[in-house]
Amino acid sequence: MKNPYIPYEVKILDTWYEAPGDRCIKTFKVTFTDEKVWDTWNHLPGQCAMVGIPGVGESMFCISSSPTEKGYLRFSIMKAGKNTSALHELEAGDTFFVRGPLGNNFPLEEWKGKNVVTIGGGIGQAPLRPVIQWIRDNRADYGELELIYGARTSADHCFKDEFKEIIEEGECECHLSVDVEEEEWPHFVGFVPQLLMEVAPKPDNTIAVTCGPPIMIKFVLQNLEKLGFTPDQVYTTLENRMKCGIGKCGRCNVGHLYVCKDGPVFSYAQLKEIPEAFA
Ligand SMILES: Cc1cc2nc3c(=O)[nH]c(=O)nc-3n(C[C@H](O)[C@H](O)[C@H](O)COP(=O)(O)OP(=O)(O)OC[C@H]3O[C@@H](n4cnc5c(N)ncnc54)[C@H](O)[C@@H]3O)c2cc1C
Ligand code: FES
Repeated sequence: MKNPYIPYEVKILDTWYEAPGDRCIKTFKVTFTDEKVWDTWNHLPGQCAMVGIPGVGESMFCISSSPTEKGYLRFSIMKAGKNTSALHELEAGDTFFVRGPLGNNFPLEEWKGKNVVTIGGGIGQAPLRPVIQWIRDNRADYGELELIYGARTSADHCFKDEFKEIIEEGECECHLSVDVEEEEWPHFVGFVPQLLMEVAPKPDNTIAVTCGPPIMIKFVLQNLEKLGFTPDQVYTTLENRMKCGIGKCGRCNVGHLYVCKDGPVFSYAQLKEIPEAFA
């Protein structure tokens, strides 16, 4: 068995900015330097990886590509501190290291035959992207797909081109928002939990998945209950700070759970049993 502390080297194929500003978000499209790694690498939507540069650091990121996208992985990384700033300096042709896949995944097999509504905020769309892409690539297996997504401004929206394509193709219902009014913005103005109430998805045979800042998640979960979703129909991710990523160091635990190993994906029903999850 492979030592879980030993990372794989990846080569950057392409990079682009999703959002500008001090805390800008850059997407990295990478492949393994040793192509043989693809023979054993298996990840599912929701899983993460430790991403790092030797001598700088290592941080946890969700894998923002779906396994249905072959031959590459994507990470969408917001500049936050030392490691992410160093990663942002890298360009196509450069290398970094990836340890994973880590953690659990969204139970997409169990969701077959159901409608899925995703509710994302800001960089929180990164773990939702592989769910959406997986469903787009396995369309016959799922019911209706509905996307709800907001960010502070339209410039802060991640995956703009994909949203544009989905809207233009009329692939599924897509509801976008910005926090504050801006010129020529044709969609909703307000916070994501408000947009959710405006859209008011029906809970019948539907799974709701939400990722974003903790304050957004708190109100989205409350609003989903108001709309009649039961806690076992609702999924989210926790993003506690992490070190080992494999359930050894105790850095990330909530209650009896290690977010790195037992999560990051949890149903709302599971989280309701752990008061510390919302502390
Ligand atoms: C399961 C999981 C998935 C994640 N997925 C993504 C992703 O897809 N894209 C992305 O941009 N980021 C993601 N993150 C957050 C990312 O791991 C941190 O932003 C990163 O570790 C910062 O590293 P740094 O060395 O650059 O900054 P540091 O110097 O470690 O920190 C910079 C600032 O960010 C804060 N910070 C660091 N980690 C966290 C955290 N986990 N929660 C809240 N604040 C934090 C610190 O307190 C500090 O204020 C994820 C975190 C987890 C646990
Ligand atoms: S990060 Fe070490 S136990 Fe979770």
